[in-house]
Amino acid sequence: MTAGAVAIVLAAGSGDRLGRGEPKAFLEVAGTPMVVRATEAAAACPAVGSLVVAVPRGHERSARTIVAPGKPVVVVSGGRSRHASVRAALAAVPDSASFIVCHDAARPFASPQQFVLVLGALEVTPDAAGAVPVVPVSDTVKRVRGGFVVRTEGSREELTLAQTPQAFRASALRDAHARAAQAGREFSDDAAALEWAGYRVAAVAGDPENFKITTPQDLALAELVAAERARG
Ligand code: CTP
Ligand code: MG
Repeated sequence: MTAGAVAIVLAAGSGDRLGRGEPKAFLEVAGTPMVVRATEAAAACPAVGSLVVAVPRGHERSARTIVAPGKPVVVVSGGRSRHASVRAALAAVPDSASFIVCHDAARPFASPQQFVLVLGALEVTPDAAGAVPVVPVSDTVKRVRGGFVVRTEGSREELTLAQTPQAFRASALRDAHARAAQAGREFSDDAAALEWAGYRVAAVAGDPENFKITTPQDLALAELVAAERARG
């Protein structure tokens, strides 16, 4: 049973590539801050019992306005990297939690169903310690070093792009992060930490509309998507 899962919402980044001079997660998409959209989607998943939101140091007070009706929300100060922010949030997750689902506030279009899907995958896949949504790669992927192609990544049908929310058995997530810290390793997503630690991670269908806001172009596209949805 995944009831009582805790959602960690990562919102402590600075948004350097967006270049707006304020933390990305607090920027609005169609009038609603991304961190609020991300938190609402997580809270709308019935299995999520409480939430931990990591925000940039100094933004803890403004983040107290982030609420999820009927579900407790704890705000923590994030770290210098996403990995460090997850560790800070993990420290605020009660030991009693069996499942943890990590989600980036930079993905304001995640549906509650995506949370249900990744948590559900852990129920039906006993040997998986984590479940990650992926979408197919449509372009040919080339590894480039010093301005030259060093390799074309083959078997395109096996190549995917990972999204969040990603669901984990809490014990595995804690163990992978503790071991990574001991080894001085950092990973760009939580599934990668589990893979490195030797755990099996299941891949489930991601959602192309759940794209990550990284550049000004992404933000402009997000406004279009939100306007389109508002029109129904
Ligand atoms: N994140 C975080 N703590 C950090 C860095 C990132 O919680 N120290 C979060 C971001 O808020 C975001 C997610 O991790 O929701 C994915 O990171 P990314 O898209 O890289 O966001 P930023 O780090 O804010 O953007 P940039 O790299 O352009 O500065
Ligand atoms: Mg970043």
